[in-house]
Amino acid sequence: MESGGKQVTFQLMLAVGAAVIGSLQFGYNTGVINAPQKIIEQFYNETWFDRYNEQIPQTSLTSLWSISVAIFSVGGIFGSFSVGLFVNRLGRRNSMLIANVLAFIAAVLMGFSKLAASWEMLIVGRFVVGLYSGLSTGFVPMYVGEVAPTALRGALGTLHQLGIVIGILMAQVFGLDSIMGNPTLWPFLLGFTFIPAVLQCILLPFCPESPRFLLINRNEENKAKSVLKKLRGVTDVSADMQEMKEESRQMMREKKVTIPELFRSPLYRQPMFIAIILQLSQQLSGINAVFYYSTRIFEKAGVSQPVYATIGAGVVNTAFTVVSLFVVERAGRRSLHLIGLMGMAGSAVLMTVAMALLDQLNWMSYVSIVAIFSFVAFFEIGPGPIPWFIVAELFSQGPRPAAFAVAGFSNWSANFIVGMCFQYVEELCGPYVFVIFTVLLLIFFVFTYFKVPETKGRTFDEISAGFRQTAAGAGAAAEKYAPEEMNSLGADSQL
Ligand code: GLC
Repeated sequence: MESGGKQVTFQLMLAVGAAVIGSLQFGYNTGVINAPQKIIEQFYNETWFDRYNEQIPQTSLTSLWSISVAIFSVGGIFGSFSVGLFVNRLGRRNSMLIANVLAFIAAVLMGFSKLAASWEMLIVGRFVVGLYSGLSTGFVPMYVGEVAPTALRGALGTLHQLGIVIGILMAQVFGLDSIMGNPTLWPFLLGFTFIPAVLQCILLPFCPESPRFLLINRNEENKAKSVLKKLRGVTDVSADMQEMKEESRQMMREKKVTIPELFRSPLYRQPMFIAIILQLSQQLSGINAVFYYSTRIFEKAGVSQPVYATIGAGVVNTAFTVVSLFVVERAGRRSLHLIGLMGMAGSAVLMTVAMALLDQLNWMSYVSIVAIFSFVAFFEIGPGPIPWFIVAELFSQGPRPAAFAVAGFSNWSANFIVGMCFQYVEELCGPYVFVIFTVLLLIFFVFTYFKVPETKGRTFDEISAGFRQTAAGAGAAAEKYAPEEMNSLGADSQL
């Protein structure tokens, strides 16, 4: 059943646009710490000197810097895991609005850390903005998925990723020496988080609450209907209403779903497993090895202007997210994810060859640029945007918040592991570090091929009905086969 048509109304764009400011914040704070590393380290050094009358030991500086970078993902882990505490009590829109308190606190802490001569403030600020970002990675795709008409769910869902990549690019550009990446202006670079927060606080009050939340969680049918009419730009929203009611009926039968139940129930175990592996495929592809350490990678690959190559990667990243936006409703999620993973694996091999032959052939540094750019491009075709929004698609209203919490937790934990370990593993493996990602990418390819169903063009209810059928089939056959086989949803099973 197609519900809601394809019309992009002003209300819909406003709602999605205001929401993805949260994605932009996440991207900005992912990218912002990369360029000004040396300058902020200098500040740490000076502060240390003022306090203890000696130069900071190199080991202390390295630890302080690693903590400053990685504490962001620790905040993300806590934030994403707390999504369920907010969305059902406060609603989706108000949760996004209130989260801005965190963005303001973080901006003040980071922006005034230099004035207060306190690296502690900077580190706590990074943690707090990590909390905000973790919450956003749940709130935004959930809200966008719930307000979008079925036929546009993938395209609008990709806007979350577009917000992230634009945020990264802005941070890379603002971080240039000549803009804000210098000893005087770096506090503004970090405090910039304040501006999107103000913008979001102005826009969100004009956006509607999710109609699914109004109908299914609050039972406010009239309100849901009037919100839907504005979002869809039509007066007859009966198809949408009917679909949501069906989902609601289903939810009555299920009651509230907690995180442990997601894993116990055969109904949810399969989609939960798929959602987790897709999150892992996004992070363990090695993408953030590029976005946290690209300058260093390019330097090692003999590139003469590594900072500009990094910005180049940011531009390619943004351009290909736009490509994905336009093809995701035509090509489907499954095929784009597969193409992306395979392309990334190929690029990782090319990168390895370039790094390994660098000593013999100088021009290999150019090949390494091509390899990193195509690595990033293939990432944005599928593995970048799809894992974020597919969680909303794989679950109905009841289990959705808990599923987002688990998926977000998996994503951020893997993000933390790559961020923390990459430099050490790189020292160990030298030019062969990308071989690890190649192997992981191939494993994720095989998994996606055999286990991930296509969700394009199907309503939430149809998708979960597909999983119900599989679970029922599995139950019936349980006496004959091993449990692992029971839970598998073959690629050919049409949802
Ligand atoms: C995805 C990832 C994020 C990464 C970004 C790069 O949104 O979740 O960690 O930095 O893509 O574009």
